[in-house]
Amino acid sequence: MIANRMKDYVKGSSVIRAMFEEGKIMAEKYGKENVYDFSLGNPNVQAPCEVNNAIKEIVEEENSVFLHGYMNNSGYEDVRKTIADSINKKFDTSFNETNIVMTVGAAGGLNVVLKTLLDPMDEVIVFAPYFGEYRSYVSNYDGKIVEVEPDLLTFQLNLADFEAKITNKTKAVIINNPNNPTGVIYSEETIKALSDILNKKSKELGIDIYLIADEPYRELAYDGEEVVYLTKYYDNTIVGYSYSKSLSLPGERIGYLVLPDELSDSDDIKAAANVATRILGFVNAPSLMQRVIAKCIDAKVNVEVYDKNRKLLYDSLVSYGFTCVKPQGAFYLFMKTPCEEMEFVNEAKKHHILLVPGSSFGCKGYVRIAYCVSYETIEGSLNGFMELAKKYGLS
Ligand SMILES: Cc1ncc(COP(=O)(O)O)c(C=O)c1O
Repeated sequence: MIANRMKDYVKGSSVIRAMFEEGKIMAEKYGKENVYDFSLGNPNVQAPCEVNNAIKEIVEEENSVFLHGYMNNSGYEDVRKTIADSINKKFDTSFNETNIVMTVGAAGGLNVVLKTLLDPMDEVIVFAPYFGEYRSYVSNYDGKIVEVEPDLLTFQLNLADFEAKITNKTKAVIINNPNNPTGVIYSEETIKALSDILNKKSKELGIDIYLIADEPYRELAYDGEEVVYLTKYYDNTIVGYSYSKSLSLPGERIGYLVLPDELSDSDDIKAAANVATRILGFVNAPSLMQRVIAKCIDAKVNVEVYDKNRKLLYDSLVSYGFTCVKPQGAFYLFMKTPCEEMEFVNEAKKHHILLVPGSSFGCKGYVRIAYCVSYETIEGSLNGFMELAKKYGLS
């Protein structure tokens, strides 16, 4: 018999994944071009050509015993150095290879950090709406998720509620910038205010509170919006990065953690993250992909494709009478539903439109629309959205 805890996970298994599977069934039934599947954050933009070229070069040039072998659990030193240098150049920081741990995507990185930091019943604060998998990751290490109420007007961080929710059991705070599911980017002003609260409360309570910056969407920012680098604002910051979205490599499972020297107990944290990588069963991040990343350190995906989708979708939905905050980054739009959210999700399905309910992100009354799809998919869906708006008296 499976573990009781797994029974709950299986029962409540990801709504997003379930929707994705339903999309595949609908595509078979109605034809792929007649189904508008906005459920999964699976990039539709090609990985840059540098990636495939690097794979070919590496496979041809490297000694395969070295290439496919084990290495330090934190990853190849030279790859980590290349990444540290690149971060330093971009953000005027001073990291080196000892500050970088290569991870199995952002998800792997978050699990390594939480394994490293959490004792049972330690509290981890998240800001609603948030990536629902955080719940499982925190529960993996018997931690307790504490949700901050959303600021429904702007979807910036609700700092008043945040301050009220910090207790002497608070061990970590996760922020995701640019945000999944809202597409909001937190302003420098917000980050400074967040850091002030963290410094004040850590001092007042005599505890270390670690800020975990989950940043798989860092490069996906539009209209020249800046995504500030959090280690520069709050010393106890750990950054989790991934190439899943920034290089369109979600299946390759590659990312890294930044563990600055300024962290409280930095040496212990670096040592523990190295061991956590091993004992969680990752052992190390995929070796070929580590070497690819070092070769493609300046490669970029074509963000304009997402930007074009964003404009068409946002402008159209607003013109039909729907309410949503304009996304500034990532590739999601979070739209208020004119009725109970599951009713809306089911009505949308009648138009072959697949959406994820806001409650999956801890924020009822909304749907998430992942616009990392083809432009034609968005164009094809617009009639359905217009019909929905009419049905609910929006236009
Ligand atoms: C906010 C957020 N964090 C982490 C992840 C996990 O990313 P990865 O595929 O790199 O593990 C995702 C994936 O969608 C995400 O949206």
